[in-house]
Amino acid sequence: MKILAIETSCDETAICILECAGKMPQPQFKVLGNALVSQIHIHKEYGGVYPMLAKREHIKNLPIVLKAALKEAGESAENPNIDMIAVTAGPGLEPALWTGIEFAKGLGEKWGKPVVPINHMEGHLWSVLFNNDKPIEFPAIALLVSGGHTELVHVEGFDKFNIIGRTRDDAVGEAFDKVARLLDLPYPGGPKISAMAEIARKRESIMDFRFPRPMLNTDNYDFSYSGLKTSVLYTTRKLDKLDEDTKAEIAREFEEAAIEPLIEKTTRAIDEFGARTLIVGGGVSANAYLREKLSTLSLERGVDLRLPSPELTTDNAVMIAIAAYVRHLTHGLTPSEDIRARGNLPLS
Ligand code: KG4
Ligand code: ZN
Repeated sequence: MKILAIETSCDETAICILECAGKMPQPQFKVLGNALVSQIHIHKEYGGVYPMLAKREHIKNLPIVLKAALKEAGESAENPNIDMIAVTAGPGLEPALWTGIEFAKGLGEKWGKPVVPINHMEGHLWSVLFNNDKPIEFPAIALLVSGGHTELVHVEGFDKFNIIGRTRDDAVGEAFDKVARLLDLPYPGGPKISAMAEIARKRESIMDFRFPRPMLNTDNYDFSYSGLKTSVLYTTRKLDKLDEDTKAEIAREFEEAAIEPLIEKTTRAIDEFGARTLIVGGGVSANAYLREKLSTLSLERGVDLRLPSPELTTDNAVMIAIAAYVRHLTHGLTPSEDIRARGNLPLS
């Protein structure tokens, strides 16, 4: 089965054509064509993503990205050999989501192909299936960490998962982005903070910053990141100067404070639910320090750690096509004429 997937939930315009084969528990995937245009350089100026600006850019980029993906796949733009069109319907920025949905509907009509709505977080969840050399064993715990979400999910099977914990305010990726702004570092903050923290970790500590580990010991699986960001804000305000060494020290302590609750609560969830697999997805799963801690945790608890390959950590269309195929195998897909953008679409 060939799926053409479209992703426009935030600041990446992405389209791929994915060949999907095999059955659960081990589907196989091959990318036939894949194109992505990032708007990061545009949003950088503002230190974050502006929905109306994102919308304008998606509208401009979608035809260009489609052309590139079809060309790579050797398919015609008039009548491509695909079975369905999958499009992200939420969660995300509604004006941005609508651009992908309207574009998908137009193509569906033109080509006479069914269009199916896909949940963006299901994409992050199943992005680990791309390199699927052995079947996933359930139950699993999934840690989904991105710019918009911080969720712990109890995954009983490919068709049965539910959220057991989430952030009560900011997402962890959002905290990286906001702290980066406080330190005068470019958007998106994650990669830059991670690189500076790595530098600070390699040398002897020259300053002693200490930030709170929010909700570390609460008796639930929830998270909170706005207090941590505020704590960094107060610290930076008190400083006379913010030189590179100081920034690196703050980045290190912030990164450790942000990641400790993720590891602590994931460990507890693995123990409580007897998980055999730990799935991780979303932009923050690219973080090297988080990956190191997750790998130690998986060895200690004897769980199989599944991480997406680096290019599938941040938003992309391949994960949307994978999620569509998983839904096709587990539930059967129902094409819809009436797809709507849902900014807060829950994972269920
Ligand atoms: O999944 P994603 O591309 O978009 C959303 O669905 O939100 O995630 C983007 C987020 C941004 O907040 C970015 O700062 C963060 O992922 N991120 C990282 C790293 N790379 C990207 N955070 C920490 N460390 C990284 N290496
Ligand atoms: Zn995402």
